[in-house]
Amino acid sequence: MSDATLQKTATAIQKSVARFGKSKFKTETDKGDKYVSETLGNLTFSTDLGSTKETDLVIEAIVEDIKVKHELFKTLDKVAPAHTIFTSNTSSLLIGDISAVTNIPCPRLGVEWIGWISWLPRAPLGPIFMTGLYFV
Ligand SMILES: NC(=O)c1ccc[n+]([C@@H]2O[C@H](COP(=O)([O-])OP(=O)(O)OC[C@H]3O[C@@H](n4cnc5c(N)ncnc54)[C@H](O)[C@@H]3O)[C@@H](O)[C@H]2O)c1
Repeated sequence: MSDATLQKTATAIQKSVARFGKSKFKTETDKGDKYVSETLGNLTFSTDLGSTKETDLVIEAIVEDIKVKHELFKTLDKVAPAHTIFTSNTSSLLIGDISAVTNIPCPRLGVEWIGWISWLPRAPLGPIFMTGLYFV
């Protein structure tokens, strides 16, 4: 990923958090500003995969191409610590096929991110392929 793409992504996330803060706190602007500032303060952006060396959870959401995903996970497998949980946002590939290039036998997780979920009063519950785990 280029630095320009990273900056574009960071800007989109900042706008999204700000929009959510406004929606959640409405006229309580101080609380909304605090929420936005604290949330964004928890984020750092980097194109360096070396930054995953202290990461507990990787959520991969790159292009839907298994060769490209394999290259990424092969690198992550070398860089990230053994306890790191790898997940993929894939919509059509098998999690087992993606994780086959790693040395991690389990857990193999799929995740599904639904942008509008934060606007709902309740969250749906769904099964994660291959694991039997559930997520909200
Ligand atoms: N589960 C769902 O509901 C759902 C919905 C939409 C997309 N997806 C999945 O999310 C993933 C991304 O989808 P999208 O529509 O954003 O794809 P996209 O092709 O629009 O964007 C992919 C991004 O990945 C970047 N990229 C490519 N190779 C990379 C690499 N090696 N390292 C870092 N970044 C890289 C590209 O520059 C691009 O910005 C896909 O796996 C897709 O199937 C899931």
